[in-house]
Amino acid sequence: MIRRILVLGVLGAVVLVGVYAAVTLYDRYMPAGRMWETPAVKPHDQPVDPMGEGVVPFSGGEAQLRATPAQNLHPPYDRVDNEIRKKGKIAYNRFCVQCHGRHYDGMGTVGQSFSPLPTDLTRPQVQNMPAGEMFRSISYGTENGRQPPLHATIPPKERWYVIAFVKSLDE
Ligand code: HEC
Repeated sequence: MIRRILVLGVLGAVVLVGVYAAVTLYDRYMPAGRMWETPAVKPHDQPVDPMGEGVVPFSGGEAQLRATPAQNLHPPYDRVDNEIRKKGKIAYNRFCVQCHGRHYDGMGTVGQSFSPLPTDLTRPQVQNMPAGEMFRSISYGTENGRQPPLHATIPPKERWYVIAFVKSLDE
């Protein structure tokens, strides 16, 4: 009887040591740290990293564009070439085609249900519109709220590309 208890005790001890060894081995080689081993950093324990240049803007940005009157808004390119028109077409097909349509006549999948239809972009009224004014219409919408403000959707550079593309439609 006593021998049996001894054998069981020894067996139990062996199992316990085995489990312990397995757990420590697993711990040592596991890819993530245990919660209690990760360093606790109190606020201001470590120096704050210096902020990189340009992280806080002092100039430019949407607010400044919005505050600029149309006649002072100028495209970033001097001349419209095919490269710019191509980028403009890609942007048109991404951001405008659903309303203004594949033929620029306002018969897009969404636009066709508008009454009246979205402006036909080949019309002289649009073709002769100063680029800065078109920039403001696209970016901040028209006053009647029908052209949606897209400043949060399209980066300024792509707005200028799309304007170059639209203004070359009657060529
Ligand atoms: C939600 C549908 C919709 C989308 C998307 C849209 N438009 Fe329009 N757009 C309209 C409607 C509607 C009008 C007519 C506005 C009016 O009645 O004055 C309009 C008018 C215009 C005008 C004439 C603006 C003016 O001041 O008279 C231009 C230029 C124009 N859109 C260009 C674009 C371009 C470029 C895009 C893509 C970047 C675009 N639109 C995206 C619906 C849309």
